[in-house]
Amino acid sequence: MTTLGTPLSASATRVMLLGSGELGKEVLIALQRLGVETIAVDRYENAPGQQVAHHARTITMSDPDQLKALIEAERPHLVVPEIEAIATPMLEQLEAAGVVTVIPTARAARLTMDREGIRRLAAETLGLPTSPYQFCDSLQELQAAIDAGIGYPCIVKPVMSSSGKGQSKIDGPADVAKAWDYAMAGGRVSHGRVIVEGFIDFDYEITQLTVRAKGASGETETHFCEPIGHVQVSGDYVESWQPMAMKPAAIEKSRQIAKAVTDNLGGLGLFGVELFVKGEQVWFSEVSPRPHDTGLVTLCTQHQSEFELHARAILGLPVDTSLRNPGASAVIYGGVEAQGIVFDGVDEALRVPGTDLRLFGKPESFTKRRMGVALARAQDTDTARSNAKLAASKVKPRRA
Ligand SMILES: Nc1ncnc2c1ncn2[C@@H]1O[C@H](COP(=O)(O)OP(=O)(O)OP(=O)(O)O)[C@@H](O)[C@H]1O
Ligand SMILES: [Mg+2]
Repeated sequence: MTTLGTPLSASATRVMLLGSGELGKEVLIALQRLGVETIAVDRYENAPGQQVAHHARTITMSDPDQLKALIEAERPHLVVPEIEAIATPMLEQLEAAGVVTVIPTARAARLTMDREGIRRLAAETLGLPTSPYQFCDSLQELQAAIDAGIGYPCIVKPVMSSSGKGQSKIDGPADVAKAWDYAMAGGRVSHGRVIVEGFIDFDYEITQLTVRAKGASGETETHFCEPIGHVQVSGDYVESWQPMAMKPAAIEKSRQIAKAVTDNLGGLGLFGVELFVKGEQVWFSEVSPRPHDTGLVTLCTQHQSEFELHARAILGLPVDTSLRNPGASAVIYGGVEAQGIVFDGVDEALRVPGTDLRLFGKPESFTKRRMGVALARAQDTDTARSNAKLAASKVKPRRA
């Protein structure tokens, strides 16, 4: 039985989000609706999630001492990582000491924090199909890995990075040094390690949202959402839609892979499993043990969005992953480098049929920073995609 308390009272059920960006903000709103007391943590003040939580805290989450001090001071029932760059060994220590429950588990947070932990688990421990890969610590090792079998074309990524940062495609020998330098400049932590992956010539890629939630008799059950198709530009998501039409055999393989990975990572919550598909062939790419950016589309397609699903699952509540209607999302970038920007054309955007908007409220805009998203529901995903893109194009961020 799950019992929830009253926020800001002695009975409160307290949840701490580590990372309070646009995805965390929606999880926090879902928790708020269930009367959960929320603590939104980020590295800068007035982060999107901090604007909708009971408490806002600003620390360096990759610093183990700061993280420990905050968790010990706040004593939340659950700690929910929203980003990768967290001192996860400290979370493991605190979890092992019984101080806190980490979602889905502290081990999952550590394994998915960099590309090496999760790739070795998926390919070497679980034997799942992935692109061929090698980890390299120097330009010489990178060249040797390519020559020894990875071949051209291939993709180089810093082991610690997200949203395509530091990632580039190598088409031939002339690109290798450039890709190495780019990865060194773009990695989140400068420890100079990269993964080089053989390029998969997929037909399309999907996110298989997968939820581990408690069933009526207390055992953990796995639920799947309809597949989400998406388009990435320079490693960053620009549009997504649901459902993605797939061959039954490809859906089945996708779910088998998603089940194998999420069973191993364990715990409760929603996962975004990224897969590449060619015909009936499916490759595992990576997994987020938390809501996925391409899953923003579920705000307009499912009875329970990925954020509500995550909130419910982590609290031990039942979930419903069913689709309500087809839909799509399209990203709105900042386009300018400035603080406190304004958005023109919101009214015109919302005049596009079946659309909705999320403006994240980020205090500072960068040219390529995701500042909002347009959502569109429709009878079919083609209509939804064009309406979402049309609505996104009507929103014009500019300096105040
Ligand atoms: N081996 C590959 N073959 C072909 N395309 C790839 C390969 N690896 C990555 N890509 C393309 O680059 C995109 C981003 O790669 P990946 O998901 O590994 O990076 P990321 O920085 O973690 O991105 P995000 O954080 O946005 O998920 C993929 O969604 C895919 O479109
Ligand atoms: Mg990815």
